[in-house]
Amino acid sequence: MTRTTAWWKSAVVYQIYPRSFADSNGDGIGDLGGIIGRLDHLRALGVDVIWLSPIYRSPQADNGYDISDYRDIDPLFGTLAEFDTLLAKVHGLGMKLVMDLVVNHTSDEHAWFVESRSSRDNPKRDWYIWRDGRGGAEPNNWGSFFSGSAWEWDQPTEQYYLHLFDRKQPDLNWEHPQVRKAVQDMMVWWLDRGVDGFRMDVINFISKTEGLPDAPAIPEQRFVVAFDGFADGPHVHDYLAELTREVFSARHGDFITIGEMPGVTPARARLYTDPARGELNMVFQFEHVFIDQSRGNKFDYRGFELVALKKSLHRWQAALAETGWNSLYWNNHDQPRVVSRFGDDAPDYWAASAKALATVLHGMRGTPFVYQGEELGMTNYPFRTPQDHEDVEAVNYYERVLEQGGDETAALAGLAKMSRDNARTPMQWDAGPNAGFTTGDPWLPVNPNHSWLNAAAQLDATDSVFAHYQALIRLRHELAILVDGDFTPLMADDPQIWAYTRTTANAKLLVIANCGREPRTVDIGPEWIGAELLLGNLPDTTGASTALDLAGWDARIYSTTTPAEVSIGLTTDVKSDSGPSSRSVVSRTSATARGNSTDNPRASASSRNSRTSLVIKPVANP
Ligand code: NOJ
Repeated sequence: MTRTTAWWKSAVVYQIYPRSFADSNGDGIGDLGGIIGRLDHLRALGVDVIWLSPIYRSPQADNGYDISDYRDIDPLFGTLAEFDTLLAKVHGLGMKLVMDLVVNHTSDEHAWFVESRSSRDNPKRDWYIWRDGRGGAEPNNWGSFFSGSAWEWDQPTEQYYLHLFDRKQPDLNWEHPQVRKAVQDMMVWWLDRGVDGFRMDVINFISKTEGLPDAPAIPEQRFVVAFDGFADGPHVHDYLAELTREVFSARHGDFITIGEMPGVTPARARLYTDPARGELNMVFQFEHVFIDQSRGNKFDYRGFELVALKKSLHRWQAALAETGWNSLYWNNHDQPRVVSRFGDDAPDYWAASAKALATVLHGMRGTPFVYQGEELGMTNYPFRTPQDHEDVEAVNYYERVLEQGGDETAALAGLAKMSRDNARTPMQWDAGPNAGFTTGDPWLPVNPNHSWLNAAAQLDATDSVFAHYQALIRLRHELAILVDGDFTPLMADDPQIWAYTRTTANAKLLVIANCGREPRTVDIGPEWIGAELLLGNLPDTTGASTALDLAGWDARIYSTTTPAEVSIGLTTDVKSDSGPSSRSVVSRTSATARGNSTDNPRASASSRNSRTSLVIKPVANP
C-alpha cells in the first residue's frame, strides 16, 4: 500500500454552484458577494477546499460551462476585484479555492471561435474541429450529450463544427499546439492570481480518435454518444502530462488537480493518477452514477440494486488501492440529490438515510466531495411540468421526445427523477421567503420543503445531517486509517447491508450501514466485541458485539483500536435525552493532532474544543 502525505488525501472538498448558492444583490441569481457572506457555513462544516463551478464570462447557455472569456468574471456573479476579495477571505479562513477549468470546449461567443468561424483560412480555423459533411449530412453519427447531433452546420463557411455538448459549446482542437499553449497560459494567469488548483471539466474528452469514426449504432437512435470516439483518446495522457509540466512544475505551493472523466475505466484512472506519470491528482469517475439509467438515455430511470452499487464503488476501491487516487462523491451539479436517489426521502427515513449514505461514502479511500446542500440532506424537487425545467439538457430532451412522438409522461417522470435541475434549486438557508437564498425572484424555484429542511434548523443541532457531515469531515482529518487504510468489502452480496473494513498495521475500522427500512441483525464476528463506536446515526447505539441489531438506515463506524493520534488528551462526555422512538445521531468529536497551527483559524477553533464528546440527542421529525 502506498503511503503518502499529499495534503489533498486527507482533505474534504465542498462544491459551490454559484448561481444557486447565495444571492447578495437581489437579482435572483447567486453571486460572489453571496458566497463571501456564507463562508462561515463552510468554516463550521470544516471543509478544506472550495471548488467553484464556472464564474467566468459566459452567455450561460450551459450555466457557465460555456465560457466566452477565461480571464474575466461574468457580471452575473461579480467582478475580478470581488473574486480577489473572496480568495483572500477563503485563504484567511485556512481553506483553498479551486476553479472549474472548462477547456474541452469554449462558448461559440469566445473570441477564438468567433475568429475560427469567420473564414476557412483564418489562422484560428484549426483551433476547433471542422469537417465537411458526408453525403449531404453530418460527418459522422456522433450524438451530443444534450440530444441530437454533435455537429452544427455553419452556412457561411459550409462546414460542420463538433460540439459534444450544446451547439453553443464548440470543441477545441487540442491537437493544435497553440490551443494547448493558450490553455496553459490561462491556467498560469489564475495561479498567479492565487487559486489553488483546478477541477477539469470532461478532461478525458480532449483527444479525439483519429478520423472521427462512426460509433456502433444503437437501435432506434440516429445519433449515438460515441464514448469510444472521444473518451481517453490517443494523446490525452501526453496532453495532461504536458499541462502539468508547463503549468505546475516550476511552481511552489500546495495545488490540487481533479479530472472529471465520464466513461473512464479503473485501469485508465490508475494511469491518470499515478504520481509517477505527473498527470492529475485524482479522477471523478461515473460508473456508480450510471447505474440506475439505461445506456444512451439517462432519463430512462431503471432503479438500482444495492449489490450493484456497492460492487461498482468497491471495484474502484480495489483498482486504485496500490497506485492512483479517487474522488468520492454522491452529488454534484449534474446529479439528482442522493437522498432521493439511493436513499429514502420519506419523512421517517430522510435524515437517517442521508447520514447513512454519507457514512459509507466518507468511510472509503479517496477524497470526499460534498455538494452544496448535501450536508443538509437536500432532496429532489417535486418537478411536474415541462415548464418547471431550466437546464439545457432537460429542455432539449423533452423537445426531442415530443418531436419523435415519444411518451411525454414517462419523459416528465424521468426528468423529475434524474434531471440536473434537482441539484440546482437554491440552497436552503432558512425557513423564510425563498429559503434565505435571495430577496428577489429566484432563477429556479426553491424546494417547498425548506420550511423544515434548512441550514438554520440544523446548524446548532448536534443530531442534524449537518452535524453528521461535520463529524465525518473531522474523522477524515483525524484518522490516518481513513486515508491510507486498506479496504476490504464484507457481505458484498447482501442486498441491504453495506459493510467494509479499513485496516492498517495497528488499527481497524468497521463501516456498516443498513440501507433499507427493515431492521437487520448482522453477525460481524468476535473480533468486534467491545469495539469503540466512533460514529453512529441513531439513538441508543452501543459498542459492538458479535451481532449488531441494525434499525432501518442505521449506520455506524467502529474502531477496534484507538489510533494514537486521536487519543491525545481526550475525555468522554455522554449526554442523552432521547426518547425511545426518536431518531438521533451519535457523534464523537475530538481534537485533531493535525494542522493545529496558530495561524490556521480553523485549527485554533478545533483546539479550543479539545475534548471528545459522545452526544445523543433527538432529531425532530420533519
Ligand atoms: C460536465 C459538467 O459537469 C456539466 O455540467 C457540463 O454541462 C458539461 N461538462 C459540459 O461542460
